Amino acid sequence: MIHSKFKTSLLCGSVAVAMASAAGADTVSLFCSASGAEYQLCSDAATAWAKDTGNEVKINKMPASWDEALPLYQQLLSAKSPDIDVMLLDVVWVGMLKDQLLDLNTVVPAEEIAQHFASTVAAGSVDGKLVGMPWYADTGLMFYRKDLLEKYGKPVPKTWAEMTDTAKVIMEGERAAGNPDMWGYVWQGKSYEGLSCDAIEWLASSNGGTIVDAAGAVTVNNADAIKAVDLAASWVDTISPKGVLDYDEESSRGVFETGNSVFHRNWSYVWGTSQGADSKLKGLVGVTALPSGSAGGPSAGCMGTAHMGVSKYSAHPEAAASLLRFMTGLSEQKRRTIDAAYNPTIATLYEDAEVLAAVPFLGDARAAFDQAVSRPSSVTLGDYNQVSSAFYQAVHSVLAGETTATDAMSLLQADLEKIKARGGW
Ligand code: GLC
Repeated sequence: MIHSKFKTSLLCGSVAVAMASAAGADTVSLFCSASGAEYQLCSDAATAWAKDTGNEVKINKMPASWDEALPLYQQLLSAKSPDIDVMLLDVVWVGMLKDQLLDLNTVVPAEEIAQHFASTVAAGSVDGKLVGMPWYADTGLMFYRKDLLEKYGKPVPKTWAEMTDTAKVIMEGERAAGNPDMWGYVWQGKSYEGLSCDAIEWLASSNGGTIVDAAGAVTVNNADAIKAVDLAASWVDTISPKGVLDYDEESSRGVFETGNSVFHRNWSYVWGTSQGADSKLKGLVGVTALPSGSAGGPSAGCMGTAHMGVSKYSAHPEAAASLLRFMTGLSEQKRRTIDAAYNPTIATLYEDAEVLAAVPFLGDARAAFDQAVSRPSSVTLGDYNQVSSAFYQAVHSVLAGETTATDAMSLLQADLEKIKARGGW
């Protein structure tokens, strides 16, 4: 079922870019994300492709929260709709949509695929079929106010406990100094896929596992996971506003970028938005790996690589593949990194002098990317959505104070075991 509001906004966001169309030109539809600068970047690139090739492109705007796009994709794909050609794919959708996507090994030359990090190619592949071409690498990162850490003589925190203390000290200091709207930490606490990302980071960085392990065992009910969720719940209404329970990426970014939070967890695009020419925070923001559960422990940013795929029911697979290759190719990835700090998936760009000058933290982002933790989508395949929503709902109920982490994780363990038994993974 597509939400009717979403359907309308999608239609409103649909723009056919008229090109001087050559005889026999194809019209290819493309879905572009609406987060941050993404829509502009994506549509500019598609327009350039259309101009170069004489085809036309019809651009559909996805909602800012990606998991709202998944039901629409599923509906269009199960109806074998020819209206959908090239799609932006979240890494966790690859397993769910695999049977309805084209094997890109048949349309993209092997040497072009080999330019991308092997880990991203593996994440876009199922059973030897490449269904999601890597487009940009992403992991959760910690953004912070460099100026405020300096003002209060605080180091960049290495553990969640340290972050909690520093956020409190600075928040209270700034409130006393005349900013009643100041908070310590803003992140994604809404009941949606984004919370699965934030929460798996708390678990994995505290030795609390990844909900379901690589072999398919449900591991979520463990003492370290419970402790990590309890710590996060203690932030709500202390260093984080109560409204965090309804924040996604864009609403939490809004609070940080108006200057009202010391720390902010988000994806790498916030480097681009917070450092933009008209940003209030230009020059004041630092970025680092997320904290660990304990001193010397691991940092675990959630892996959020974006891929692109082509529907198996596309009426123009060749033109669709041409658009996909353009969008995910070297020069477009380079432009997106320089203009908006999207991390490339093509290894040589990490040594490109122009790229490094524009995004000095790229080396660190790559280190965070290497340590990233994957959500259990490749082991739970078609059941991932159910697993993730059971997880984020359980975590949300603890954050909202409706239950304890001990009870919620124990019930969740039982629910996930049932899903596993039905799904046979
Ligand atoms: C970002 C990530 C994606 C994740 C989503 C959650 O778009 O790239 O992997 O699922 O955020 O909101």
